[in-house]
Order: sequence, then structure tokens, then C-alpha cells
Amino acid sequence: MLKIAVLVSGGGTNLQAIIDAMENGTITNTEISVVISNNANAYALERAAKHGIEALCISPKQYENREHFNKDFLEKLNSYQVDLVVLAGFLVVLPEMMIKQYENRIINIHPSLIPSFCGKGFYGLKVHEEALRRGVKVTGATVHFVDAGTDTGPIILQKAVEVKQGDTPEVLQRRVMEEAEWKIMPEAINLIANGRISVTDGQVTIKD
Ligand code: GAR
Repeated sequence: MLKIAVLVSGGGTNLQAIIDAMENGTITNTEISVVISNNANAYALERAAKHGIEALCISPKQYENREHFNKDFLEKLNSYQVDLVVLAGFLVVLPEMMIKQYENRIINIHPSLIPSFCGKGFYGLKVHEEALRRGVKVTGATVHFVDAGTDTGPIILQKAVEVKQGDTPEVLQRRVMEEAEWKIMPEAINLIANGRISVTDGQVTIKD
């Protein structure tokens, strides 16, 4: 059984997609040990509670400096002894120690086809604003392992989504979520839970 922690900051629709996929059998061999938010008002926390999943908030704002936050955050996370950490719209920079400790055991969903529209400053709606500004006709989403860079880790799955005439950032964001994020995030977790993913020299292989 793959034990996962899901880290969130906001609405938690990706968390919901994971919960739904576990309930309908799209994800097997997996349990959510904890949901952690940096934001006490995140609706994601309510989604977890509704499904009887342990949920807690640890905010950098509660600490006098980042070092203290990082230490407590990592200790708390470690106490759950999870196999995989899932970043589902988590907008906090991860402690360096955590990235080392959880090498190839942290995955992130990003709302574009990496390497387009990613890196520092590209998160949430901003990604879609930039895609529309550049006039791309296809965008999408990417699930990748997290390394020390921003959106630079090994790519697990990607799915393309059409940009339509007249799209606003909000409309495009919703389409990317519905057609790509809510599908490839559960799919990636299921592949990992069933031992079908390996990483060699920064490249992901999916076994049949
Ligand atoms: C999602 O679109 C996710 O791809 C994005 O934040 C949103 C969270 O929505 N993540 C990033 O931009 C990370 N760079 P949710 O809380 O409803 O799942």
C-alpha cells in the first residue's frame, strides 16, 4: 500500500480528483495519510475533512523565520512516514533538505506543457495568462518528479489541451484542469503505487 501525503494551498480540486479516483478504483494500492496546507483557509482542508482524511495547516506565518518553519514542517511530514509526497497546488518553496530526503518521491502537477510557461513566477492563473499572451494554440499539464530546480525534475506524464478563440485565463485554467490535471495526476499516482515507474538519469520509464 502506497502511503501518500498531499500538500495543498488552495481550492484542492486536484486533491478532490485524487480522492475520487481512489474511491472509484482508478487509483489502487494507495492511502492518503495526511493532507497538509500552508493556508488555514484552503478549501482543500474541508475536502479532506469531508472524507475523513487527517488534515492540518502549517503556515510560514506562524514562524519567526523560514528556517524554523522548514524544520517543523519536515518533522511533521516525516512523522507520517509516507512513501510519496504529492504537491497538488502547493505554492510554498520546499525546504532543500526535504528535496534531498525525498528524492524521486515528490511529484508535482504544473498547469502547462513543461518546458513552456514554467519556472519561477509561473503558478496558477499566471501560467494561463502567459500562454494566452504568447498566443499558443495548445497548452496542457505536466506531472513531474520534484528536484532542486523549479519545474525541472523528470517528467512522468503530460497531456495536451486545445486553446480556443476568446479564452480568458480562467476559462483556459478550468479546461486544463478538467481535460488534463484531474486525469494525469491520479494516473501518475496509480502508476507509482503499482510499481510501474522508474527513473534513470533523469528520465522516467513506464513499465507495461
Ligand atoms: C492547479 O492548476 C495546479 O496545476 C497549479 O495550481 C492549481 C491548484 O488548483 N499549480 C501550480 O501552478 C504549481 N506551479 P487546486 O488547488 O484546485 O488543485
